[in-house]
Amino acid sequence: MAHSLDQVKEKFIERFGFAPTLIIRSPGRINLIGEHTDYNLGYVLPAAIDKGIWMALSKSEGATIIHAIDLGREIILNDFDNLEPFDNGWANYVVGLVDQLQKAGISINNFNCVFGGDIPIGSGLSSSAALENATCFGLNELLELGLSKMEMIKFSQKAEHEFVGVKCGIMDMFTSMMGEKEKVIRLDCRSLEYKTFPLQLDNYELLLLNSNVAHSLASSEYNTRRNQCREGVHLMKQKFSEVDSLRDVDMIVLNECKADLPELVFRRCKYIVEENLRVLAFCEALLQKDFGSIRKLLFAAQAGMKNEYEITCPEIDFLVDYSFKYPGVIGARMMGGGFGGCTINIIERKRETEFIEKIKTVYFKEFGLEANPIKIKINKGVRRVD
Ligand code: GLA
Repeated sequence: MAHSLDQVKEKFIERFGFAPTLIIRSPGRINLIGEHTDYNLGYVLPAAIDKGIWMALSKSEGATIIHAIDLGREIILNDFDNLEPFDNGWANYVVGLVDQLQKAGISINNFNCVFGGDIPIGSGLSSSAALENATCFGLNELLELGLSKMEMIKFSQKAEHEFVGVKCGIMDMFTSMMGEKEKVIRLDCRSLEYKTFPLQLDNYELLLLNSNVAHSLASSEYNTRRNQCREGVHLMKQKFSEVDSLRDVDMIVLNECKADLPELVFRRCKYIVEENLRVLAFCEALLQKDFGSIRKLLFAAQAGMKNEYEITCPEIDFLVDYSFKYPGVIGARMMGGGFGGCTINIIERKRETEFIEKIKTVYFKEFGLEANPIKIKINKGVRRVD
């Protein structure tokens, strides 16, 4: 259930009897193109959005109390010695971050925390990175730790790797931290250099559709994909010693190594090499407002995720296929880690209402599931709001 800034603040006062010292807004993200390229040190094209987490914090004289208002759940910790991952997922994003800070030799005092927000959980909008960043940014302010944004991004990523157990790339944390209003970020995940530019879609706009499928395989298959890419790099390095990641591979190198790679690994690598090229081409097309090229690139990205990287699912494929056939839709594709979540669609503004109505009806008929439209605006990264 979604909660507003005021509700988070009120809950904090109700729970602790005084006002929070500070409140953080930490956004989720979208990604226009470039999926699974981040941990392969390639390119991505994300943006922070106007949906995210509100987190209210204060220091505590007693235990640390962390209250998740959206879930109506709470955990209490007397100290941070020997922290272990919890069975209930949500607490790991907050406590995992504290664990990382402690492990880096930064001692964390007990604190009070209430958080909630308006970002749908498990829909591919990176609620997890938003929560990790909220915690890190919030504790940095509250305890005056003096961490840079880049340090905080790295702590969030490490918390996800080590406490949550998903070996994610850097895109989600980076975007949630560095986002700029109305701008998309072209991030080079190898050098971490980035460029922001305005998203100008004229009569078109972005529309997300939540498939309401949250596949249980998402995290295990995610790590499997990562390992398959690593295997590809390892095998190609035998022939081309300069290859340290798939970023160092182009189609010529890949084809020369084809016979040395298991067929599945070849397909995984091919998708990544081509997806990197698509990100760069997409940026060019956006700048030129070349909507024909944008359509082709989205189509190819979706086909790659479906057939080569194999991270889509029937519900997502159905939504994307329907979008592509609909008049006034430039294109669509699955967004995020895969196996469910949202599709991102670029649609003519005047057709949007009728499109949503139609796609909801056919999707429900086919799968008995709701396809929920999520309207987003591109907004700033993590910040203090109170
Ligand atoms: C998840 C991960 C990201 C990225 C995407 C896929 O959101 O957290 O690091 O790999 O999947 O592009």
